[in-house]
Amino acid sequence: MKERRILLVIGGGIAAYKCLDLIRRLREEGASLRAVLTRAATHFVTPLSVAALTNEKAFTDLFDLNDEHEIGHIRLSREADLIIIAPATADLLAKMAGGHADDLASTILLATDKPVLAAPAMNPRMWLNPATRRNVAQLEADGIRFVGPNTGEMAERDEAGPGRLAEVPEIIAAARKVLAEQRSVTPLRTGRPLAGRHVIVTSGPTHEPIDPVRYIANRSSGKQGHAIAKAAAAFGARVTLVAGPVMLPDPPGVRVVHIETAEQMLQAVETSLPADVAVFAAAVADWRLASAPDEKIKKTGRAPALDLVENPDILATIAKRGAQRPDLVIGFAAETGDVAASAASKRKAKGADWIVGNDVSPENGIFGGDSNSVHLVTEKGIEDWPSMSKDAVAERLMLRAAEYLRTRTAAAE
Ligand code: C5P
Repeated sequence: MKERRILLVIGGGIAAYKCLDLIRRLREEGASLRAVLTRAATHFVTPLSVAALTNEKAFTDLFDLNDEHEIGHIRLSREADLIIIAPATADLLAKMAGGHADDLASTILLATDKPVLAAPAMNPRMWLNPATRRNVAQLEADGIRFVGPNTGEMAERDEAGPGRLAEVPEIIAAARKVLAEQRSVTPLRTGRPLAGRHVIVTSGPTHEPIDPVRYIANRSSGKQGHAIAKAAAAFGARVTLVAGPVMLPDPPGVRVVHIETAEQMLQAVETSLPADVAVFAAAVADWRLASAPDEKIKKTGRAPALDLVENPDILATIAKRGAQRPDLVIGFAAETGDVAASAASKRKAKGADWIVGNDVSPENGIFGGDSNSVHLVTEKGIEDWPSMSKDAVAERLMLRAAEYLRTRTAAAE
């Protein structure tokens, strides 16, 4: 927590008093704090006690934008490494999920480019209400992190269930985790070694229709491809992510083209050229129906024979292009068995500059998982990378790409 800047958004709920302890503990850990109170929060804790504990002015809606000493909402949200919302009330979560910006707290949350950790606290019925369930699911999909709520007795008599604010040590542990993940990306933000470059990334599976309701798919989660797009953007690149159907939010600062089929993916990549780097992390379906009927295929007691044709190989098509071939073409090879050898032969066969080989034997749990164990096959040989998170693989790969482009540009000059 040392020297990390935390912006605490205090919502209006009975648990707001616990924020005072949270502020004290975070400061003891070396973090610096600023706090914003919603109007409702000021009924539970006073800006004065928050200011005393943060050693900073406590920000409320009542501040004077004309005061030149005042800090605007953009600065408040940007000059933090992490935003913690505690207690995150049902109302605040609803506002966030809906993208509202009608007070200082919600405006900051809409304007921020920083990780946000929400610690909800509310009556169990409110937490379990379908509206709150929907909002939380939406916020999770948007990348908001949650800690708690815990289950137990509520402040009201005879009320118990999920809705208690997570304990202060739990909130701090969750904050530490989010900051640690963030830290691995931070050096890239300052370095921006891909500034001025265009990186195209394909990610996720493709869906090939069998009829209007059925399709051929695979288990790709898109996590690795999306992580690469995020890392490239953090490095300063302009990024086009061509994404198949995935359950992931669009990475911030990335142009995302959503497609379904392999043919659409190829077309989206081609129209996004030229690019300096193209990374083909998508698990493209190998086959599609020669022609998918417009009507749902009826069950007749006899299974239909599907007439399959091979999909275009997007990586090979782009790698073998004469004009507008990206300077660096990177493919993936999901293999079992001798991963390094198969990746090396795939590199040649597809005309890629590099192939990232990963072992997808079921015991490794790569599909949908958060970590990856890869081999990088380049023109110089095979490197075995230690097992690391998909984010770390993405950062390392994009760092290498930046280095590759830099030496290429230097050699050309
Ligand atoms: O042939 P295989 O599917 O193992 O090749 C994997 C690599 O080729 C990945 O980089 C994948 O994104 C790419 N690929 C593609 N188009 C296809 C099949 C694979 O771009 N139709």
